[in-house]
Amino acid sequence: MPRSIAIDGPAGAGKSTIAKKVSARLEFIYLDTGAMYRTVALKAIKSEIDTNNQQELALMMDNLNITISHDNNLQKIYLDGVDVSEAIRTAEVSVGASNVAVFPEVRLKMVELQRRIAADKDVVMDGRDIGSYVLPNADLKIFLTASVEERARRRYEELIQKGQTVSLEQVRDEMLFRDNNDSSRAFAPLKKVPDAIEIDSTKLCIDEVVDKILYFYENYSNISKS
Ligand code: DC
Repeated sequence: MPRSIAIDGPAGAGKSTIAKKVSARLEFIYLDTGAMYRTVALKAIKSEIDTNNQQELALMMDNLNITISHDNNLQKIYLDGVDVSEAIRTAEVSVGASNVAVFPEVRLKMVELQRRIAADKDVVMDGRDIGSYVLPNADLKIFLTASVEERARRRYEELIQKGQTVSLEQVRDEMLFRDNNDSSRAFAPLKKVPDAIEIDSTKLCIDEVVDKILYFYENYSNISKS
């Protein structure tokens, strides 16, 4: 049976940085599921489809061609054969991704792809519904949080480093919008499941969180119990 670690939590809690490191240490692949919802949003934006329009999105999903590659622990995501790994990292796509992710027509297709990848590979998967819906039998479930101020600060610095023009306030507002949208939707919302271990990363550095997760994996996961 392939092994799996689910890391869920709100935007900017450090999930992707940490999941990447954990997967490298365990030689698992890293699957960033947010990138998939972002790619759906990018396609909608390019096709001039409102990311809140369920009917048009449902039709668009019939012609959606998303592929993912993993090379040296680096995930690349392709839309219709074009690498969009960087193009999906804008504020507009972030909000669009949170919007399209509300709809079951979008989620079910993404979940199918996610489960297919986890069916034959050891994986660290990050997202919002991994422990609760995508991989309910994951060997270890982590719920990673941080204060909204800290999450906004981290995301702001990341965007500035990439040369994007944003204010801290804009980033914070967008984050609060997404937190609320992602946790209040009816289908597979962001939530901590009872068997997830919560880690608050507000005052921890990346490696401290990575070490904690590796410790939990060695000592408390389903693998260590079997
Ligand atoms: O992790 P991220 O910030 O790249 O995710 C972008 C959006 O995609 C997020 O606001 C909600 C949605 N998402 C989701 O609904 N379920 C997931 N498993 C991953 C992301």
